[in-house]
Amino acid sequence: FTASDFVVVANRLPVDLERLPDGTTRWKRSPGGLVTALEPILRSNRGAWVGWAGVADADVDPIVEDDIVLHPVPLSADEIADYYEGFSNATLWPLYHDVIVRPEYRREWWNSYVEVNRRFAEATAKASAPGATVWIQDYQLQLVPKMLRMLRPDLTIGFFLHIPFPPVELFMQMPWRTEIVEGLLGADLIGFHLAGGATNFLYLARRLAGHQTSRGTVGVRSKLGVVQVGFRTVRVGAFPISIASGALDEQSRSRSIRARARAIRKELGNPAKILLGVDRLDYTKGIDLRLDALRELIAEGRVDPTDTVMVQLATPSRERVESYVQMRGEIEMVVSRINGEYAEVGRPVVHYIHRPVPRDELIAFFVAADAMLVTPLRDGMNLVAKEYVACRSDLGGALVLSEFTGAAEELKQAYQCNPHDLEDVKDKLEAALTQTREEGRKRMRALRRQVLTHDVDRWARAFLDALAHEGAAGPALV
Ligand code: G6P
Repeated sequence: FTASDFVVVANRLPVDLERLPDGTTRWKRSPGGLVTALEPILRSNRGAWVGWAGVADADVDPIVEDDIVLHPVPLSADEIADYYEGFSNATLWPLYHDVIVRPEYRREWWNSYVEVNRRFAEATAKASAPGATVWIQDYQLQLVPKMLRMLRPDLTIGFFLHIPFPPVELFMQMPWRTEIVEGLLGADLIGFHLAGGATNFLYLARRLAGHQTSRGTVGVRSKLGVVQVGFRTVRVGAFPISIASGALDEQSRSRSIRARARAIRKELGNPAKILLGVDRLDYTKGIDLRLDALRELIAEGRVDPTDTVMVQLATPSRERVESYVQMRGEIEMVVSRINGEYAEVGRPVVHYIHRPVPRDELIAFFVAADAMLVTPLRDGMNLVAKEYVACRSDLGGALVLSEFTGAAEELKQAYQCNPHDLEDVKDKLEAALTQTREEGRKRMRALRRQVLTHDVDRWARAFLDALAHEGAAGPALV
């Protein structure tokens, strides 16, 4: 394969390798927002994507899919346990999400993280043409910018973090905090969703990455969105990600989706109100507490269980990580408790699906739902909230949205709630269910204006423009 001028690096490839029972393998597309957004740029630039194929020991050759070269990085079963489930998802994930679950700091997990990041850096160095632009994605690969710069100083390197960057006091727990900050500082541009994350990082860069000499502290100075690392300038900015809102809006208007939405309402027994939750099954998402809120509202007579139905679609995720197993148990307990107390035979109050749901079906649920419940304790952005809004060209429905999501900074006309305050969640849920048609339309119109004008293309362009134009202190820079 010829080397590429534009290379995306992410833990996962946009395709998963599937091993079939007869021993053969095939590639299955894993549709994500990021691929959709970057596909045009990748195609027009002889683009490449470096990532893991989703199964153990897949040491396979690069493949070309839709003009994009995919470079699989193999991970062993031990590396999946230590780098992916361990350091990425039982250390970094909880640490960066406000330590909702206690992060575990294990040296063998860290060692594996370093090793796998090095493998990603080497694979990227090989895939990149002279002077190429490389865009590294997310918390699994925070050491790659520095490792790659050492191998290939000719490259322009961007990094984007898709999850929150934590407050300084929490980040300081990390035994390898300096290595991580220095790893990120290998990039030319570091992007976060929110200005708050960028500010946290700037402070830490100054505090951790400088070093002492006989003439005092040198190495790192930071000011207004810029970190000076020796002779290099690293820029830091806020770039809130979004969705392909135009395409989704159009899809949701199709006759088949409309018909399916009506059928869903009928299948649910034509209730007056349909509540919807759509999440990866993750303890950050606050699925349990939205169910608690519903249970109390029913108990207090504020929601009628004979006329209200909740659908919770929970995609299985990271199922071998202990805290996920535990959260699943807790959610399933509340679901059965509500149904045990309030369901009739053939008429559950909560419909709970713990399987991936096809995209079209999901869109039909968005169109059918009278209220969408997005109640994370912490979330970098939350694209589901934006997807719901993009699907409501009828100006119907209502969005209940946690203040602790990145999306809350943009979606001001949602019914915003503090997920730690159950009474507040209950009040907002009730308000969403009892809003007048006029109030609902007014809010949804404003939400749609934001989501339709700020799509994922705009996000990718803003980041890549800032990366290409050194010194550009656009409005996105903190
Ligand atoms: C979050 C992360 C992504 C990750 C996704 C799915 O959105 O920011 O990096 O790919 O969750 O999680 P998984 O562990 O299955 O890749």
